[in-house]
Amino acid sequence: MVSRAARSRARELRKQLNLHDYRYHVIDDPLISDSEYDQMLLELRELEQQYPELATDDSPTHRVGGRVSERFVRVPHPGPILSLSNAFGEDDVRAWYERIARLDARVEQAAFVVEPKLDGLTVVLHYQNGTFNLGATRGDGQNGEDITSNLRTIRTLPLRVPVDPNGIKVPARLVVRGEAIIFKKDFSEMNRRAEAEGGKTYVNPRNTAAGSLRQLDTSLTAARPIRLFCYSIIESTGKPLKRQWLVLEKLRDLGFPVEGNARICEGIEEVITVIQQLAGKRDSFAYEIDGMVIKLDDLELANSLGVVGKDPRAAIAFKLPAEERTTQLLDIGLNVGRTGVITPFAILEPVYVGGANVKQATLHNFDFIKEKDIRVGDRLLIKRSGDVIPYVIGPIVEARTGKEKRYKMPNKCPDCGEPIQMIEGEVAVFCANASCPAQRVRNLEHFASRSAMDIEGLGIKVAEQLVEQGLVEDVGDIYGLTKEALLDLEGFAEKKADKLLSAIESSKSQPLSRVINALGIRGVGESVAADYAGHFRSLEALSRSKPADLEVMEGIGPNIASGTVDWFAKPRNKKLLAKLKKAAVWPVEEKVEAGPQTLSGLTLVLTGTLPALQRGEAKALIEGAGGKVTGSVSGKTAFLVAGEKAGSKLLKAQDLGVEIIDEAGLRKLLEAAR
Ligand code: IVH
Repeated sequence: MVSRAARSRARELRKQLNLHDYRYHVIDDPLISDSEYDQMLLELRELEQQYPELATDDSPTHRVGGRVSERFVRVPHPGPILSLSNAFGEDDVRAWYERIARLDARVEQAAFVVEPKLDGLTVVLHYQNGTFNLGATRGDGQNGEDITSNLRTIRTLPLRVPVDPNGIKVPARLVVRGEAIIFKKDFSEMNRRAEAEGGKTYVNPRNTAAGSLRQLDTSLTAARPIRLFCYSIIESTGKPLKRQWLVLEKLRDLGFPVEGNARICEGIEEVITVIQQLAGKRDSFAYEIDGMVIKLDDLELANSLGVVGKDPRAAIAFKLPAEERTTQLLDIGLNVGRTGVITPFAILEPVYVGGANVKQATLHNFDFIKEKDIRVGDRLLIKRSGDVIPYVIGPIVEARTGKEKRYKMPNKCPDCGEPIQMIEGEVAVFCANASCPAQRVRNLEHFASRSAMDIEGLGIKVAEQLVEQGLVEDVGDIYGLTKEALLDLEGFAEKKADKLLSAIESSKSQPLSRVINALGIRGVGESVAADYAGHFRSLEALSRSKPADLEVMEGIGPNIASGTVDWFAKPRNKKLLAKLKKAAVWPVEEKVEAGPQTLSGLTLVLTGTLPALQRGEAKALIEGAGGKVTGSVSGKTAFLVAGEKAGSKLLKAQDLGVEIIDEAGLRKLLEAAR
């Protein structure tokens, strides 16, 4: 027999633990430490082991999973779980509005709720007297699959409502609809781990969330970082709510996780503005959204408009362009980079994805093709999101017809025909022919690029012309270019030639760090170049360095050190340096006295493009003031200096509460150091 004391203690522990799950996972405002939580959970687990009848449906001990089923049982929904018709642009949204306004004139005065459309899996959650006792997938809309045990493992799913005993009443029966999703950062972390363990990587957050919830072994689900957002009440024995906005509020009050970007809009014009605003923020969402759902706020009016097929008239999904699509791999092309690295890319049947027509996508490297077993003719899943270069996720193996061809690694450089080389322990494959035209073009393009010598008017097209016409053997030759020679090139007239020559002339006064970066030494980018410039102060001194001289520098390992020494040892590079010296591209860095070391002991991280400072320049300034620059954000980071197009580092800094500053903020810190 369970003693009354044990029963009441178990009840109290369940209540407390459910509250703390909510405080920690839903509102991110924990009240107790992790160890206090663990202590309570342990106590409850022991009580339940002693008295199994105390393990009620709302016990947080179920969150760790462990139950293994043989199959999922079909369960009927309390009413049809509807879907939505789609709008693919503003015109469709206006047409939808006109349509419903014609059906009922009240629509003209009505308000709308715009919610992000979460790209996950619909779940239907049943609560009896406040306890979560059944959860199902959408299925065919009439019947779903019982995935209750799997859903219990979701930390943000309240096992009992109201979570916070705040006087709010819960109806005896309540059925809520929500979306199970995986956050982008959790998804990347899952893939990082899978890669480290040599396992198969996951395709996308949506499929992974759906797959995770359909695991027969719940401990597998428990190990996946699934989260939840709720947005509708399907059925309730309580007083019906009159407005969608109040539904969201009510759900939030009960302790359900509710997405925070929903907006109430006065009319259709405001709806359109809000949709545009949310669409512009798509990449900054912590989870994938595939559009916005526009809902009539007045739920009585919404009901009276009825349903067409499975879609209620009163709501519509505004779809953003898909960021992932499948298309056929027509062929695999090869690209030769400036250091001779040969990389494969996919030549695709053109497809509209992420708001653009895509014909090519990167295949990363040859190992990727091998690991994913990508075959020419395959249907591939490709992704294009924001300004990121489109990339291949993997093949759709199920779509194979048998006509696909396995890919054979090339053994010759696609540009010069010389044999390809591989370096042990490295994924990259090289063309070692220094006079390979493709490399010369890329080298020149890099030399002239914005972060190197910054020669305006010398992009890839002009670089190709200069190499093809034999005007440039190595980058040093650009300082000997004449106007006559340029005028012979297609598309060059007086003005364009003068402009290019003057840009080339101005580049002669670039500082040492930029010149070192411009040389294109393997492993030496902006940041290492700035370190070399600060340490050696001239090309002369750097060129005489031995690996040991370089390896004493922080952040320089044996690969970069030997890459640098080898570069300077090569006769053709000696020839190039002689040309640069002759052209007076031979900067020497004055020794600057270090200023007051007020950034001393502080670690900063740089991300994105700063408006004026190059990455290397910012690093040199920070280090000059005694600070340290590292590549990744951690609890030890004092400041994140974020420029435009800052990506995951920014999200991580926000997560960790690291102070984020811009270039102006950095300058202020440096001034303070003076
Ligand atoms: S409302 C009748 N709101 O989008 C109301 N759906 O076809 C239908 N979805 O299957 C759903 N976020 O899984 C609604 N804020 C949101 C949503 C949302 C994502 C999904 C839902 C549905 C699909 C629309």
